[in-house]
Amino acid sequence: MYGMIHRAVRQMVFDELGEDAWLALEHKLGIGPTELLTGMVYDDALTIAIISEASARLNLSVDVCLFEFGRYWIKYAERGSLASIMNFTGQDLASFIENLDRLHLAVGAAMPGAVLPSFTTVSKTPGRLMVEYRSDRTGLEPFVLGLFDGLITRFGATGDVKIADRKANVIVFELQYQDGS
Ligand code: HEM
Repeated sequence: MYGMIHRAVRQMVFDELGEDAWLALEHKLGIGPTELLTGMVYDDALTIAIISEASARLNLSVDVCLFEFGRYWIKYAERGSLASIMNFTGQDLASFIENLDRLHLAVGAAMPGAVLPSFTTVSKTPGRLMVEYRSDRTGLEPFVLGLFDGLITRFGATGDVKIADRKANVIVFELQYQDGS
């Protein structure tokens, strides 16, 4: 994955455990600043190794760490240079999710080699969304659950997300939420 993702994991470890914990992680994996370049593509195996080491240090299972990283990514993207992309993507949860592919298309245009996910809203009723997730990768469902959970929070709602169905190549997520207002 792009170094941008590694930098976000680093920031999460920094925030939770401080700089020394991150430096120890780098030492263990034999990596350094070269593996954190925002605009470079790295093997997914490295991304997974970084997440696994982070989860061990945070005392979380890999799946829980991926979930927490999903939630963290939403807060991370709200800050700094990514904030305007997030603001353009949608003013409410349903439209934001409907525009996720557009967000990734825009981002991907400047990121050759990115392997981007695709999301399709297949059902939309008040307080409930069914969203199909497609990816060339496997095993990132906990990350997606955390991302959707973070989006529910971003839009001031409360609720929960679960996996409703798995078909070949498609995972269906169900979001149930109540607006905070
Ligand atoms: C400014 C906001 C965002 C940016 C810049 C961004 C960018 C990226 C990038 C660079 C990757 C990695 C692609 C690669 O290295 O191959 C990625 C992956 C991913 N993004 Fe986003 N993204 C953003 C927001 C979101 C949001 C809000 C979601 C919520 C669902 C999301 C869902 C995902 C998922 C699930 C992946 C994993 C890729 C896969 O499934 O194969 N992203 N994104």
